[in-house]
Amino acid sequence: MYGRLCTSCHGVGGRGNGPMAPMLKVEVPDLTGIAQRHGGEFPAEQVRRTIDGRFERPAHGLPYMPVWGWKFYDAEASNDAEARALADSLIDRLVVYLGSIQED
Ligand code: HEC
Repeated sequence: MYGRLCTSCHGVGGRGNGPMAPMLKVEVPDLTGIAQRHGGEFPAEQVRRTIDGRFERPAHGLPYMPVWGWKFYDAEASNDAEARALADSLIDRLVVYLGSIQED
C-alpha cells in the first residue's frame, strides 16, 4: 500500500525523494526520521492523524498531502461506520509500516 500510494512523493525508501517531490513547493519530509525528530519516540497517534488528515487541515493545514482519511473512505460501504472503520484500518497499517522503517 505504501508503495502504491506514497512513494511518488516520499520515495521508495521513505526519504522524501520521490519523483514528484521536486515539483512540490514544500520539502517532502523524510519518513524514516520521524522518531528521531521526536526525541527517539515514534509518535504513532500523531502520525495517524497526519496521514488521516481530516483533523489537520483547519488547524495546521497540510497543503500538499492528500487527505487519506477521505480517500480511503469507501462510499460503497453499506453504512458510515463501516466505511470509517475500513479507512481507519488502512491508516493503521500505514502507521505500523512507517513505525517499522524508523532509523536512529
Ligand atoms: C502528493 C505528495 C504526497 C503523497 C502522495 C504523500 N505525501 Fe505524505 N507528505 C507530503 C508532504 C509535502 C508532507 C509535508 C506536509 C505538507 O506540507 O503537506 C507530507 C507529510 C507526511 C507525514 C508527516 C511527516 C512528519 O515528519 O511528521 C507523514 C507521516 C506522511 N506524509 C505519510 C504519508 C503516507 C503514509 C502516504 C501514502 C498513503 C503519503 N504521505 C503520501 C506529500 C505527500
